[in-house]
Amino acid sequence: MSEVKIQNIEDLTGVGPAIAEKFREAGYSTLEEIGTQSPGQLSDATGIGQESCAKYIKEAGKNAKIGSFLTGTELMEKRATVGKLTTSSSTFDELLGGGVETQSITEFYGQYGSGKTQFMLQLAVNAQLPVEQGGLGGEVAIIDTENTFRPERIISMAKALELDPDEVLSKIHVGRAYNSHQQMLMVKKVKEIAKEKPIKMLAVDSLTGAFRAEYIGRGTLAERQGKINAHMSALARFGDLHNAAVVVTNQVSSNPAAFFGDPTKPIGGNIVGHTSKFRIYLRRGKAGRRVCRLVDSPHLPENEALVSITEDGIRDG
Ligand code: GTP
Ligand code: MG
Repeated sequence: MSEVKIQNIEDLTGVGPAIAEKFREAGYSTLEEIGTQSPGQLSDATGIGQESCAKYIKEAGKNAKIGSFLTGTELMEKRATVGKLTTSSSTFDELLGGGVETQSITEFYGQYGSGKTQFMLQLAVNAQLPVEQGGLGGEVAIIDTENTFRPERIISMAKALELDPDEVLSKIHVGRAYNSHQQMLMVKKVKEIAKEKPIKMLAVDSLTGAFRAEYIGRGTLAERQGKINAHMSALARFGDLHNAAVVVTNQVSSNPAAFFGDPTKPIGGNIVGHTSKFRIYLRRGKAGRRVCRLVDSPHLPENEALVSITEDGIRDG
Protein backbone atom coordinates (compact mmCIF):
# COMPACT_ATOMS: atom_id res chain seq x y z
CA MET A 1 0.00 0.00 0.00
CA SER A 2 1.56 3.29 -1.01
CA GLU A 3 1.44 6.01 1.58
CA VAL A 4 -0.40 9.19 0.67
CA LYS A 5 1.86 12.13 1.37
CA ILE A 6 0.16 14.86 3.27
CA GLN A 7 0.50 18.43 2.08
CA ASN A 8 -1.96 20.62 3.95
CA ILE A 9 -2.59 21.12 7.63
CA GLU A 10 -6.08 19.61 7.21
CA ASP A 11 -4.39 16.34 6.18
CA LEU A 12 -2.86 15.91 9.64
CA THR A 13 -4.46 13.12 11.67
CA GLY A 14 -7.18 14.54 13.88
CA VAL A 15 -7.15 18.01 12.35
CA GLY A 16 -10.57 19.04 11.10
CA PRO A 17 -11.69 22.43 9.81
CA ALA A 18 -12.10 23.87 13.33
CA ILE A 19 -8.56 23.03 14.45
CA ALA A 20 -7.13 24.06 11.09
CA GLU A 21 -8.83 27.42 11.60
CA LYS A 22 -7.26 27.74 15.06
CA PHE A 23 -3.85 27.16 13.53
CA ARG A 24 -4.44 29.69 10.78
CA GLU A 25 -5.74 32.28 13.19
CA ALA A 26 -2.58 31.93 15.22
CA GLY A 27 -0.49 32.39 12.06
CA TYR A 28 0.32 28.75 11.23
CA SER A 29 -0.83 27.87 7.75
CA THR A 30 1.73 25.34 6.55
CA LEU A 31 3.15 22.01 7.73
CA GLU A 32 6.57 23.63 7.94
CA GLU A 33 5.32 26.35 10.28
CA ILE A 34 3.79 23.76 12.59
CA GLY A 35 6.59 21.22 12.29
CA THR A 36 9.24 23.66 13.49
CA GLN A 37 7.50 24.65 16.73
CA SER A 38 7.85 23.20 20.19
CA PRO A 39 4.66 21.76 21.73
CA GLY A 40 4.66 24.50 24.38
CA GLN A 41 4.92 27.31 21.86
CA LEU A 42 2.25 25.87 19.62
CA SER A 43 -0.08 25.22 22.50
CA ASP A 44 0.38 28.74 23.89
CA ALA A 45 -0.31 30.29 20.52
CA THR A 46 -3.35 28.22 19.58
CA GLY A 47 -4.96 27.14 22.85
CA ILE A 48 -4.77 23.50 21.70
CA GLY A 49 -3.48 21.06 24.35
CA GLN A 50 0.25 20.33 24.44
CA GLU A 51 -0.14 16.60 23.90
CA SER A 52 -2.15 17.08 20.73
CA CYS A 53 0.29 19.74 19.62
CA ALA A 54 3.17 17.30 20.06
CA LYS A 55 1.41 14.79 17.76
CA TYR A 56 0.67 17.43 15.12
CA ILE A 57 4.25 18.70 15.21
CA LYS A 58 5.63 15.19 14.76
CA GLU A 59 3.44 14.40 11.78
CA ALA A 60 3.87 17.87 10.23
CA GLY A 61 7.62 17.65 10.69
CA LYS A 62 7.80 14.29 8.91
CA ASN A 63 5.89 15.60 5.93
CA ALA A 64 7.31 19.09 5.58
CA LYS A 65 10.59 19.97 3.98
CA ILE A 66 12.47 20.68 7.17
CA GLY A 67 16.13 20.32 7.79
CA SER A 68 17.17 19.90 4.18
CA PHE A 69 20.75 21.00 3.67
CA LEU A 70 21.87 23.63 1.22
CA THR A 71 25.43 23.86 -0.02
CA GLY A 72 27.50 26.96 0.65
CA THR A 73 27.21 27.74 -3.06
CA GLU A 74 23.43 27.57 -2.95
CA LEU A 75 23.37 29.80 0.11
CA MET A 76 25.69 32.25 -1.60
CA GLU A 77 23.34 32.32 -4.60
CA LYS A 78 20.42 33.04 -2.31
CA ARG A 79 22.41 35.85 -0.62
CA ALA A 80 23.12 37.34 -4.04
CA THR A 81 19.40 37.93 -4.60
CA VAL A 82 19.11 40.00 -1.40
CA GLY A 83 18.02 43.56 -2.21
CA LYS A 84 19.16 46.63 -0.27
CA LEU A 85 16.73 49.42 0.39
CA THR A 86 18.10 52.90 1.07
CA THR A 87 17.03 54.75 4.23
CA SER A 88 17.80 58.13 2.56
CA SER A 89 20.75 58.53 4.91
CA SER A 90 24.05 57.42 3.38
CA THR A 91 25.76 57.02 6.77
CA PHE A 92 22.92 54.87 8.04
CA ASP A 93 22.90 52.82 4.83
CA GLU A 94 26.60 52.22 5.28
CA LEU A 95 26.04 51.10 8.87
CA LEU A 96 23.52 48.56 7.56
CA GLY A 97 25.94 47.29 4.91
CA GLY A 98 24.12 49.02 2.04
CA GLY A 99 20.58 49.50 3.33
CA VAL A 100 17.64 47.59 4.77
CA GLU A 101 17.87 44.03 3.44
CA THR A 102 15.17 42.00 1.77
CA GLN A 103 14.56 38.43 3.04
CA SER A 104 15.07 39.71 6.59
CA ILE A 105 13.12 41.36 9.35
CA THR A 106 14.44 44.77 10.38
CA GLU A 107 13.18 46.05 13.69
CA PHE A 108 13.17 49.73 14.69
CA TYR A 109 12.70 50.13 18.39
CA GLY A 110 12.74 53.16 20.63
CA GLN A 111 10.66 55.40 22.77
CA TYR A 112 7.65 57.44 21.74
CA GLY A 113 8.67 60.12 19.22
CA SER A 114 12.03 58.51 18.44
CA GLY A 115 11.22 58.29 14.72
CA LYS A 116 10.12 54.67 14.17
CA THR A 117 7.09 55.63 12.11
CA GLN A 118 9.06 58.24 10.14
CA PHE A 119 11.58 55.57 9.12
CA MET A 120 8.82 53.21 8.09
CA LEU A 121 7.15 55.89 5.93
CA GLN A 122 10.47 56.87 4.34
CA LEU A 123 11.20 53.23 3.48
CA ALA A 124 7.68 52.87 2.04
CA VAL A 125 8.47 55.68 -0.40
CA ASN A 126 12.02 54.52 -1.14
CA ALA A 127 10.95 50.92 -1.84
CA GLN A 128 9.27 52.26 -4.97
CA LEU A 129 12.48 53.74 -6.37
CA PRO A 130 14.24 51.72 -9.06
CA VAL A 131 17.01 49.40 -7.84
CA GLU A 132 19.71 51.70 -9.33
CA GLN A 133 18.50 54.44 -6.98
CA GLY A 134 18.52 52.31 -3.87
CA GLY A 135 14.92 51.15 -4.13
CA LEU A 136 13.32 47.77 -4.70
CA GLY A 137 11.15 48.83 -7.65
CA GLY A 138 8.02 47.50 -5.99
CA GLU A 139 4.90 48.22 -3.99
CA VAL A 140 4.42 48.31 -0.24
CA ALA A 141 2.02 46.86 2.32
CA ILE A 142 1.66 48.38 5.78
CA ILE A 143 -0.17 46.80 8.67
CA ASP A 144 -1.07 49.83 10.77
CA THR A 145 -2.12 49.04 14.32
CA GLU A 146 -1.86 52.55 15.74
CA ASN A 147 -3.44 54.65 13.02
CA THR A 148 -0.18 56.45 12.41
CA PHE A 149 -0.08 56.24 8.61
CA ARG A 150 -0.04 59.81 7.28
CA PRO A 151 -0.58 60.29 3.52
CA GLU A 152 0.60 63.92 3.90
CA ARG A 153 4.00 62.71 5.05
CA ILE A 154 4.25 60.34 2.10
CA ILE A 155 3.42 63.22 -0.25
CA SER A 156 6.19 65.44 1.22
CA MET A 157 8.74 62.62 1.08
CA ALA A 158 7.75 61.63 -2.47
CA LYS A 159 7.95 65.21 -3.74
CA ALA A 160 11.41 65.60 -2.19
CA LEU A 161 12.55 62.63 -4.29
CA GLU A 162 10.82 64.04 -7.39
CA LEU A 163 8.38 61.18 -7.51
CA ASP A 164 4.72 61.57 -8.42
CA PRO A 165 3.00 61.64 -4.99
CA ASP A 166 -0.30 60.20 -6.29
CA GLU A 167 1.47 57.28 -7.88
CA VAL A 168 3.49 56.65 -4.73
CA LEU A 169 0.34 56.69 -2.58
CA SER A 170 -1.43 54.33 -4.97
CA LYS A 171 1.32 51.76 -4.44
CA ILE A 172 1.10 51.72 -0.65
CA HIS A 173 -1.54 49.30 0.64
CA VAL A 174 -2.48 50.11 4.21
CA GLY A 175 -4.44 47.69 6.36
CA ARG A 176 -5.69 49.00 9.68
CA ALA A 177 -5.68 46.35 12.42
CA TYR A 178 -7.66 47.08 15.55
CA ASN A 179 -6.34 44.21 17.66
CA SER A 180 -3.61 41.58 17.61
CA HIS A 181 -5.91 38.98 16.12
CA GLN A 182 -6.65 41.17 13.09
CA GLN A 183 -3.00 42.09 12.90
CA MET A 184 -2.04 38.44 12.45
CA LEU A 185 -4.78 37.81 9.90
CA MET A 186 -3.57 40.80 7.88
CA VAL A 187 -0.44 38.90 6.86
CA LYS A 188 -2.72 36.51 4.95
CA LYS A 189 -4.38 39.48 3.25
CA VAL A 190 -0.99 40.81 2.23
CA LYS A 191 -0.18 37.40 0.71
CA GLU A 192 -3.36 37.78 -1.38
CA ILE A 193 -2.37 41.28 -2.52
CA ALA A 194 1.10 39.99 -3.38
CA LYS A 195 -0.43 37.61 -5.93
CA GLU A 196 -1.44 40.65 -8.01
CA LYS A 197 1.07 43.34 -7.02
CA PRO A 198 4.83 43.14 -6.63
CA ILE A 199 4.96 43.77 -2.88
CA LYS A 200 8.63 44.36 -2.05
CA MET A 201 8.21 45.72 1.45
CA LEU A 202 5.91 44.75 4.29
CA ALA A 203 5.79 46.91 7.40
CA VAL A 204 4.05 46.40 10.74
CA ASP A 205 3.69 49.57 12.82
CA SER A 206 3.54 48.67 15.66
CA LEU A 207 4.47 45.00 15.93
CA THR A 208 3.94 44.74 19.67
CA GLY A 209 1.53 47.55 20.69
CA ALA A 210 -1.68 45.54 20.43
CA PHE A 211 -0.16 42.48 22.10
CA ARG A 212 1.13 44.62 24.89
CA ALA A 213 -2.28 46.18 25.50
CA GLU A 214 -4.17 42.88 25.35
CA TYR A 215 -1.95 40.50 27.26
CA ILE A 216 -1.42 42.08 30.61
CA GLY A 217 0.29 40.47 33.56
CA ARG A 218 2.65 37.58 34.02
CA GLY A 219 0.06 34.87 33.56
CA THR A 220 -0.48 35.74 29.90
CA LEU A 221 3.16 36.25 29.03
CA ALA A 222 3.79 32.81 27.53
CA GLU A 223 0.68 33.01 25.40
CA ARG A 224 1.60 36.47 24.18
CA GLN A 225 5.13 35.41 23.28
CA GLY A 226 3.79 32.37 21.45
CA LYS A 227 1.54 34.55 19.31
CA ILE A 228 4.23 37.14 18.60
CA ASN A 229 6.53 34.30 17.63
CA ALA A 230 3.98 32.85 15.19
CA HIS A 231 3.37 36.31 13.75
CA MET A 232 7.10 36.90 13.27
CA SER A 233 7.49 33.52 11.52
CA ALA A 234 4.71 34.45 9.11
CA LEU A 235 6.39 37.80 8.43
CA ALA A 236 9.80 36.20 7.92
CA ARG A 237 8.30 33.71 5.50
CA PHE A 238 6.69 36.48 3.51
CA GLY A 239 10.04 38.27 3.23
CA ASP A 240 11.74 35.07 2.09
CA LEU A 241 9.11 34.07 -0.43
CA HIS A 242 8.71 37.47 -2.04
CA ASN A 243 12.28 38.73 -1.65
CA ALA A 244 10.74 41.60 0.30
CA ALA A 245 12.03 43.79 3.10
CA VAL A 246 10.08 43.31 6.33
CA VAL A 247 10.14 46.30 8.65
CA VAL A 248 8.61 46.27 12.11
CA THR A 249 8.46 48.84 14.88
CA ASN A 250 8.61 48.10 18.56
CA GLN A 251 8.35 50.35 21.56
CA VAL A 252 10.49 50.33 24.65
CA SER A 253 9.01 50.43 28.07
CA SER A 254 8.69 54.01 29.24
CA ASN A 255 7.68 53.34 32.82
CA PRO A 256 10.76 52.46 34.89
CA ALA A 257 8.56 50.92 37.56
CA ALA A 258 6.81 48.61 35.11
CA PHE A 259 7.35 44.88 34.81
CA PHE A 260 9.57 45.52 31.78
CA GLY A 261 11.78 47.75 33.85
CA ASP A 262 14.67 48.73 31.59
CA PRO A 263 13.58 51.69 29.43
CA THR A 264 16.02 50.71 26.68
CA LYS A 265 14.65 47.18 26.39
CA PRO A 266 12.24 46.55 23.54
CA ILE A 267 8.89 44.94 24.22
CA GLY A 268 8.60 41.27 23.39
CA GLY A 269 12.07 40.51 24.66
CA ASN A 270 14.04 37.62 23.25
CA ILE A 271 11.49 36.19 20.89
CA VAL A 272 11.33 39.35 18.82
CA GLY A 273 15.09 39.70 19.18
CA HIS A 274 15.91 36.26 17.85
CA THR A 275 13.73 36.54 14.77
CA SER A 276 14.74 40.09 13.78
CA LYS A 277 18.00 39.94 11.88
CA PHE A 278 18.58 43.66 12.12
CA ARG A 279 17.62 45.59 15.21
CA ILE A 280 17.94 49.33 15.30
CA TYR A 281 17.61 51.25 18.51
CA LEU A 282 16.50 54.86 17.92
CA ARG A 283 16.91 57.64 20.41
CA ARG A 284 16.76 61.40 20.41
CA GLY A 285 20.11 63.14 20.05
CA LYS A 286 21.16 66.78 20.18
CA ALA A 287 19.35 69.46 18.15
CA GLY A 288 16.46 67.24 17.08
CA ARG A 289 18.73 64.58 15.59
CA ARG A 290 18.22 60.88 16.01
CA VAL A 291 20.89 58.38 16.97
CA CYS A 292 20.42 55.04 15.20
CA ARG A 293 22.27 52.17 16.81
CA LEU A 294 22.63 48.82 15.10
CA VAL A 295 22.27 46.14 17.78
CA ASP A 296 23.23 42.44 17.43
CA SER A 297 23.50 42.01 13.69
CA PRO A 298 24.79 38.62 12.44
CA HIS A 299 27.52 40.03 10.22
CA LEU A 300 27.95 43.74 10.96
CA PRO A 301 29.67 45.54 13.83
CA GLU A 302 27.54 47.28 16.42
CA ASN A 303 27.73 50.96 15.55
CA GLU A 304 25.81 54.23 15.41
CA ALA A 305 24.71 56.71 12.75
CA LEU A 306 23.29 60.18 13.20
CA VAL A 307 20.27 61.24 11.13
CA SER A 308 17.84 64.16 10.99
CA ILE A 309 14.11 64.00 10.48
CA THR A 310 13.31 66.88 8.14
CA GLU A 311 10.28 68.07 6.22
CA ASP A 312 11.67 66.06 3.26
CA GLY A 313 12.08 62.92 5.38
CA ILE A 314 15.10 61.12 6.82
CA ARG A 315 18.45 62.64 5.90
CA ASP A 316 22.07 62.45 7.03
CA GLY A 317 22.39 64.09 10.44
P1 GTP B 1 5.50 56.32 18.67
O1 GTP B 1 4.79 55.71 17.53
O2 GTP B 1 4.66 57.28 19.43
O3 GTP B 1 6.15 55.31 19.57
O4 GTP B 1 6.70 57.23 18.09
P2 GTP B 1 7.59 57.02 16.81
O5 GTP B 1 8.91 56.49 17.22
O6 GTP B 1 6.87 56.31 15.74
O7 GTP B 1 7.85 58.54 16.39
P3 GTP B 1 7.56 59.21 14.98
O8 GTP B 1 8.24 58.46 13.90
O9 GTP B 1 6.12 59.46 14.84
O10 GTP B 1 8.37 60.56 15.15
C1 GTP B 1 7.74 61.76 15.45
C2 GTP B 1 8.79 62.82 15.33
O11 GTP B 1 9.24 62.93 13.98
C3 GTP B 1 8.24 64.17 15.67
O12 GTP B 1 8.37 64.44 17.05
C4 GTP B 1 9.14 65.09 14.86
O13 GTP B 1 10.33 65.32 15.56
C5 GTP B 1 9.49 64.26 13.65
N1 GTP B 1 8.65 64.63 12.50
C6 GTP B 1 7.51 64.07 12.11
N2 GTP B 1 7.01 64.69 11.04
C7 GTP B 1 7.87 65.69 10.74
C8 GTP B 1 7.91 66.70 9.74
O14 GTP B 1 7.04 66.80 8.88
N3 GTP B 1 8.97 67.55 9.76
C9 GTP B 1 9.96 67.45 10.66
N4 GTP B 1 10.98 68.31 10.62
N5 GTP B 1 9.95 66.51 11.64
C10 GTP B 1 8.92 65.65 11.67
MG1 MG C 1 4.98 55.51 15.61
